[in-house]
Amino acid sequence: MTEQAIQPLRVGVVGLGFAGTTHTRAYQQVPGVEVIGLAGLEADRLAQMGEEFSIPHLYAQWEDLLARDDLDVVSVCTPNFLHAPIAIAALQGGRHVLCEKPLARTAADAEAMVEAAKAAGRVLHTAFNHRARGDVATLKGFVDAGLLGRVYYAKAYWMRRNGIPGLGSWFTSKELAGGGPLIDLGVHALDQALYLMGEPEITTVSATTYAEYGPRGRGMRRVGNPKMQTGSGYEVEDLATAYMRTADGATLLLEASWMVQGSYDDDFGVTLYGSEGGAEIDVRRYGWEDTLRVFTDQAGVPVETRPASVRGRGHQAVVEQFVDAVRSDDWSAHTGQEGLNRARIVEACYASAQKGREVSLAAE
Ligand SMILES: NC(=O)c1ccc[n+]([C@@H]2O[C@H](COP(=O)([O-])OP(=O)(O)OC[C@H]3O[C@@H](n4cnc5c(N)ncnc54)[C@H](O)[C@@H]3O)[C@@H](O)[C@H]2O)c1
Repeated sequence: MTEQAIQPLRVGVVGLGFAGTTHTRAYQQVPGVEVIGLAGLEADRLAQMGEEFSIPHLYAQWEDLLARDDLDVVSVCTPNFLHAPIAIAALQGGRHVLCEKPLARTAADAEAMVEAAKAAGRVLHTAFNHRARGDVATLKGFVDAGLLGRVYYAKAYWMRRNGIPGLGSWFTSKELAGGGPLIDLGVHALDQALYLMGEPEITTVSATTYAEYGPRGRGMRRVGNPKMQTGSGYEVEDLATAYMRTADGATLLLEASWMVQGSYDDDFGVTLYGSEGGAEIDVRRYGWEDTLRVFTDQAGVPVETRPASVRGRGHQAVVEQFVDAVRSDDWSAHTGQEGLNRARIVEACYASAQKGREVSLAAE
């Protein structure tokens, strides 16, 4: 155990929405970690969170929080366009960074963040909390134990009906968010699939995007916190589909939508087809029971099992893994590479959709 491990970690959180609140709450459950500062533009919410979580130092702007000289860790829970500037400033100031997904709105921003982490010798970690689900952990154990054999085909989706986060919020601005449901929800589904498949290299993508409902002001989400408004119109897709090839010959299909007319509410899942068996995770409205099915055969007879899973700990697990990485002896193993890989894939999907053809990600 290093000297570092016994010092309290002092954390600053930027952002007061769902993400900022969730990170703050999670840090407060970890022994030896103190959230000492918070930044966000909504004055009432800032004061309320300061009181609720007993956080002494409150700022409107992230720059003022980062100007403190006593922070060890910064959590970036802001609109996507601010991920890179805040994370890079924090890393250059010697802080470790936990960044919300997507790591960045462009691959270039994500590359700059990973470079900053390497140059500073600090931890950069992306919050892929849906990978920490119990059903994903159970299935990952089966895959790693060889139960499915070689996974050669996978499908991942996150589909909402009437789930556009808010017209005129930063979510619907291409400039501020980097895209629509693909970069927002699809990146979670992509992360789950790649994690379960053992991080195969994606070599080509062929994607299409549609904006059928958003531009007509339809499909808006009716529940949830109001998102930070920016006054932009509807500039992003409301559905994205992608076909991807991996270097080892597997196929991955991805679908992400904020609005389709279908049987969905707010649902996601992953299907894996392997040389020895298959598996499906199907999650309706963030449920966690009875979500996993595994398909094999025994003596030639098809067998379907429904393994029991626990709920999983979501952001609490993410924050604890991040704190463990910060307290470990090897920060060089945590430089944000997985977040960068996903940013490159998402960007390639948007490029493919724009060009109307397949795009290669493999080094030429
Ligand atoms: N992992 C998940 O399950 C999950 C869920 C929701 C959101 N997110 C991610 O978290 C991020 C934030 O999403 P949200 O839904 O919480 O958004 P939100 O709009 O509710 O909150 C954004 C926050 O950023 C703050 N902010 C903006 N500009 C700022 C500045 N200059 N200085 C200080 N603070 C500033 C705002 O004041 C606001 O409090 C996004 O990247 C989103 O993709 C992840």
